[in-house]
Amino acid sequence: MKNQDPNKKTEVQPDPQVPIAQERPSQVEAPEVKAVETVATELPYRILAVDDSSMQRKIMQKIFAADMYDLSVAEGGEDAIKLLSEKNFDVLLLDIEMEGMNGFEVCRYIRDEMTQVILPIIFVSSHVGKDIIQQALSVGGDEFVIKPLDKASVLNRVNAAAIENRLLERLDNTELVLFSVAHMAEAFDESSGDHCDRLFHMCNVFADKLGLSEEDRITLGYASVLHDIGKIAVPNHILAKQTHLNEEEWRMMKRHTVIGAEFAKSIKNCGSVVDIIRYHHEKFDGTGYPDGLKGYAIPYLARVFQIVDIYDSMSNNRIYNDAFPRDRVITVMAKEAQNGLRDSQLMHSFLEIACKNPDLLVRKTMAPEPMSNYKLKAIIDSTMKAGNKELMKS
Ligand SMILES: [Fe+2]
Ligand SMILES: [Fe+2]
Repeated sequence: MKNQDPNKKTEVQPDPQVPIAQERPSQVEAPEVKAVETVATELPYRILAVDDSSMQRKIMQKIFAADMYDLSVAEGGEDAIKLLSEKNFDVLLLDIEMEGMNGFEVCRYIRDEMTQVILPIIFVSSHVGKDIIQQALSVGGDEFVIKPLDKASVLNRVNAAAIENRLLERLDNTELVLFSVAHMAEAFDESSGDHCDRLFHMCNVFADKLGLSEEDRITLGYASVLHDIGKIAVPNHILAKQTHLNEEEWRMMKRHTVIGAEFAKSIKNCGSVVDIIRYHHEKFDGTGYPDGLKGYAIPYLARVFQIVDIYDSMSNNRIYNDAFPRDRVITVMAKEAQNGLRDSQLMHSFLEIACKNPDLLVRKTMAPEPMSNYKLKAIIDSTMKAGNKELMKS
């Protein structure tokens, strides 16, 4: 009998498009801000969609009809702020042109007055010019989706944003430090500096395709940021070397998996992250490192993650090679699976996305800096402030 992967998941098919229309609003009174309830850690994702068009709100209800979403809608900015003060949301979809407070004013209020710095805010707009992007960035927005709304792409963005939100909310101080160190390690190793953010996004797209649980998505989210944290222990001249590594250098480079896994052991309830960090360079035929694991002995999520990691590494400029065009990346990856180096079933699923829906793999953010860095900085700053206050008391 053929060797079977015990962890194989069911595939989820992408959804069709949804049309759109416009309409006018109604005004509401300014709300009183109350304490926010405890953060949810499981499905459904709590989405708040704010739009003064009743037609647009109906479209949102259609898009988020599945059980995995708990959609609230608001007719305007004041309504939205009231809801945000009463309930915790994973993602805010915010129309820009509204009567009363417009989307930018609502966003600024949420960031500055309500100090909700982590909540992903996705603007919904029919056109996105340079001015609008500038303004959206200056008030603390994260992303745009463009009207008319494409259901698959909206769900994809919202899922990724919701996971990122929950991941950031779960981080404790130790994890914040690890994340900061990981970003430092990335800065040494990557020429573009946003490899982790792209991985985070693509892991979510792949997770959609594979029908992975939220826990698995969060694990992949951690791994996206932390997988190469062990490179902090690899000398810079080795990381920066543009020619082939000699035997000793290569031995040191390979140690990043083991060292990284040791670093990450402090993450609570997340043993699978440690597995991904340790095993993301194993190969299906047993020729990888550090342990030479073979086939399904390589943990499932490590096999999932490494496919995304390879795709991104080949698709972008690195210190030691220039970006390959997409068709070449796909050919090389398909060949690796054919030659027994990668899990062929997983590779097939991923390459289906890369061939049929490559746009889904592109992280479309308006921010010049990777947003997770921005948010991490905001969280670290607020943690420091809280720490300072405690110090002042003592
Ligand atoms: Fe690595
Ligand atoms: Fe990587």
